[in-house]
Amino acid sequence: MKLLYEGKAKRLFETERPDELLMEFKDDATAFNGEKKEQLENKGRVNKKLSLLLYNLLEKEGIKTHFIRDVDEINMIVKRVEIILVEVVTRNVVAGSLAKRTGLKEGHVLTEPIVETYYKDDSLGDPLINSDHIRVLKLASEDEVNELKRQSLTINKDLTAFFTSIGIQLVDFKLEFGRVYPDFKEVILADEISPDTCRFWDIETGEKMDKDRFRRDLGDVIESYEQVLTRVEDAVLH
Ligand code: TMP
Ligand code: ASP
Repeated sequence: MKLLYEGKAKRLFETERPDELLMEFKDDATAFNGEKKEQLENKGRVNKKLSLLLYNLLEKEGIKTHFIRDVDEINMIVKRVEIILVEVVTRNVVAGSLAKRTGLKEGHVLTEPIVETYYKDDSLGDPLINSDHIRVLKLASEDEVNELKRQSLTINKDLTAFFTSIGIQLVDFKLEFGRVYPDFKEVILADEISPDTCRFWDIETGEKMDKDRFRRDLGDVIESYEQVLTRVEDAVLH
């Protein structure tokens, strides 16, 4: 199969169908724009399973995703989309770069969710941008930007309700969207939803259960990812 794209955590391959791609979840973990890099055994498997379960949950709530069907431990078939080069971060609680940018304390609960847009460009370090930048750089149309924000807030509602029910606080998360091949008109959720792209805190203990364990050298990275997966699986299967 022809490799179409390799990112830091995933690979995309062409299939025999032009409208379907194979998405492989790698064990590679990176942080600080790739400066810190390690192999985390099983990360691909856990992130694929979690993404799949969360896509299913969102599809039931009427959100369209690129997921088509499961393949094996680390691969799934997805719709071919043209990824919109705008990463959408939704935040419920202050953490990470928002704490740095505003001086607000990590853990401060926001009175309403904040939606931010970042330019998906590794060579620039994915900088924060606003709708004027997006329009002038022609990264997305005005309608698309509104749609990305609207979908992100809906997804935030659905995911927050679900994670709260399994004792996990959804602090923030990053989403990517794509325009569906072949006419590139419809915009759907793409990429992954996993502890690599979300911040999850245990509601009881406050313990971090996401990639901050890797970024901040807190240890037990994959064990925490597996704990999230176990809780999600238990909730979905029972
Ligand atoms: P930040 O606080 O570092 O800006 O991160 C906000 C959210 O976005 C957090 O859930 C982690 C996620 N994220 C990614 O998925 N990829 C990235 O490259 C970065 C910097 C953050
Ligand atoms: N994903 C980014 C990187 O690989 C940053 C991060 O998640 O912290 O560097």
